[in-house]
Amino acid sequence: MSRTRTHSPSPSPRPSKRTKVDHLTPDDFKNGLFLAPMVRSGALPTRLFALKHGATLVWGPEIIDKAILHSTREVDPITGVVSYNGVSRAIFATHPVEKPYLIYQMGSSDPELAVQAAKTVMQDISGIDLNCGCPKPFSTHAGMGAALLTNPDLLCSILIALRKEMPPHITVTAKIRLLPSQEDTLKLVERIVNTGVSALTVHCRTRNMREKDRAVIERLREIVEFVEGMGKGIAVVENGDCKDWEDAKRVREITGAHSVMIARGAESNPSCFSPEPLKDVETSLVPAYLNLSKYLQNHFSLTKFCVGQFKGPRTHVTKAESLALRQTLSQAKDYADMEHLMASSTGEQEFQQILDAIEANPPREHRMLLSEGGSPHAEQDDESVTITPEGTQNPEPPGSGAPFLPNDTGRPLAKIPGHDATTPTPSGSLSLASM
Ligand SMILES: Cc1cc2nc3c(=O)[nH]c(=O)nc-3n(C[C@H](O)[C@H](O)[C@H](O)COP(=O)(O)O)c2cc1C
Repeated sequence: MSRTRTHSPSPSPRPSKRTKVDHLTPDDFKNGLFLAPMVRSGALPTRLFALKHGATLVWGPEIIDKAILHSTREVDPITGVVSYNGVSRAIFATHPVEKPYLIYQMGSSDPELAVQAAKTVMQDISGIDLNCGCPKPFSTHAGMGAALLTNPDLLCSILIALRKEMPPHITVTAKIRLLPSQEDTLKLVERIVNTGVSALTVHCRTRNMREKDRAVIERLREIVEFVEGMGKGIAVVENGDCKDWEDAKRVREITGAHSVMIARGAESNPSCFSPEPLKDVETSLVPAYLNLSKYLQNHFSLTKFCVGQFKGPRTHVTKAESLALRQTLSQAKDYADMEHLMASSTGEQEFQQILDAIEANPPREHRMLLSEGGSPHAEQDDESVTITPEGTQNPEPPGSGAPFLPNDTGRPLAKIPGHDATTPTPSGSLSLASM
């Protein structure tokens, strides 16, 4: 791997002084606010920004079992980024700093392949999640994703195999959608909980519902009570239509869910996990995101896609400035085209800020606890830290980092003929709406 840039060689995260982070337990899935799995949008820089701003656990994008099996693991000696590279592209990228909080999501319809895939990545992650909710044909036609909802024997056999073959320190979880009937949903949930999972995420839409359809979160309370009644201490995680930290209170009050998982809210603003999410993302997030993404060698097209999704309230940035940024972005071919926006810091500084923020405020320590009145509040430790650390209201970026192998950063592309098993990519072009 050739590098032209020079950096100080300090990729390893410093261990937290206050938390001994070892491995996840079912309790770590309670009172949390999680970054949902998102192909493309949930790549490495985005996950790091989510952690910086208060996400307590982060899910990686769904990776199909076969895709990771034929990959080669490579560690960047400068940044510490771990890449799983396929024959034609990078399949998955992570960094040791996120390992204590990282749930790897897989798509599978085969217990043996699922176990092999999990073993391939287990040194870099804390938990394995099985995607049982993707309704797209590329997933369901192979029996994966939402197809598993109507094949509970297969679904459970994958979870059982994973639980049996994974070491105890790797959690096994599942993410499902609601079935049309509540009775069928409860039957499925009972079977899943009995496989030994540590938590269950319920996306409160059925397989046929689209994202524009309102999530039916009212159905979750009965499911939560049912799981609690099983007495295994398993967390039920709500997913669907939660916008941010503030909104998570509403969701928890309605559903009683132990935790809440956010997808599109975080895609728009990865600091949505903070009680004080960033405003003016054009200046507070975009430059930092670009810098971090460049430093981590996130493929520019992926960075561009993620930045194109950012939006939020503007206080100081004018509409004209926002439009100008979007225009620049839409025309940019590489990081050099965005360099005039990136002068405020360096990627290395951004990365260091993330390390510092995680160390100062370990994600798994600040949870959303239910107060006596049943209303969630942010847990603060004795040093009274805020979720978004002071002085970091400016440049924060997210980037996402898996699907494409950087070809604009000096990293050589594999030239071996053939292609990798496809990991689902949501359709959608660069959204240049109202940033
Ligand atoms: C861009 C994008 C990619 C997604 N990729 C995945 C995925 O890889 N695995 C998965 O289980 N769900 C995926 N989802 C679904 C989300 O995790 C989530 O279930 C859904 O968006 C509902 O949550 P929300 O209302 O907070 O957006 C994706 C959603 C989006 C918007």
